[in-house]
Amino acid sequence: MTRQNNNLIIAPSLLAANFARLGEELAAVEAAGADWLHLDVMDGHFVPNITFGPLVVKALRPLTNMPLDVHLMIAPADPYLAAFAQAGADHISVHPESGPHLHRTLQAIRGLGKKAGVVLNPATPVDSIAHVLDLADLIMVMTVNPGFGGQAFIASQLTKIAALRRMIDETGRDIVLQIDGGITAQTAPAVLAAGATCLIAGTAVFAAPDYAAAITAIRDAAAAADAG
Ligand code: DX5
Ligand code: ZN
Repeated sequence: MTRQNNNLIIAPSLLAANFARLGEELAAVEAAGADWLHLDVMDGHFVPNITFGPLVVKALRPLTNMPLDVHLMIAPADPYLAAFAQAGADHISVHPESGPHLHRTLQAIRGLGKKAGVVLNPATPVDSIAHVLDLADLIMVMTVNPGFGGQAFIASQLTKIAALRRMIDETGRDIVLQIDGGITAQTAPAVLAAGATCLIAGTAVFAAPDYAAAITAIRDAAAAADAG
């Protein structure tokens, strides 16, 4: 393996945190070694669950310097991009299925001065983003169906991750390849071997008794995969 796992980005998903104590939970994962904070926005329409909107992003923004990695599971997404940007999101990622004009949506995110991401559901083919790679700063592969934390990792996505790794390498650009869903110290090695550079973990971090130990376990598993 040639990828440098000491550069691995760990982004805990606040979805699995205690929502009565979001500020404390953020501080706790930051102190535990998180690199980014992943924020799952759901509308009960694009996905069968509802979470939170820009107000929560805005409330969290002054509490941390960690990049806020906002994952929009809403349709349409375009009318809300400016609100999330103004709330303090650093990255805004959308699903191609959330609107008819993905290219325009990514341009709009970039136009707001934010990093633009595209998220592929388990059934969404890599070809769906082949012609927008120049507008993508991040690509996220869902290894569960979006909507809920705590689901089982879908291993069939490993070939998709590897295919995206090759596509990204061909661009010569440093697009972040994120994996979201079912990430644990057990599933992390295969994901890293396939070429991921950022792991999103909800349950594996926030349901653990010791957040630092949980994050370290994922990093160590990734490092072991790299050495192997
Ligand atoms: C699911 C979300 C994920 C979720 C991951 O729709 O996009 O970010 O929080 O949770 P775990 O790590 O528990 O699978
Ligand atoms: Zn997510």
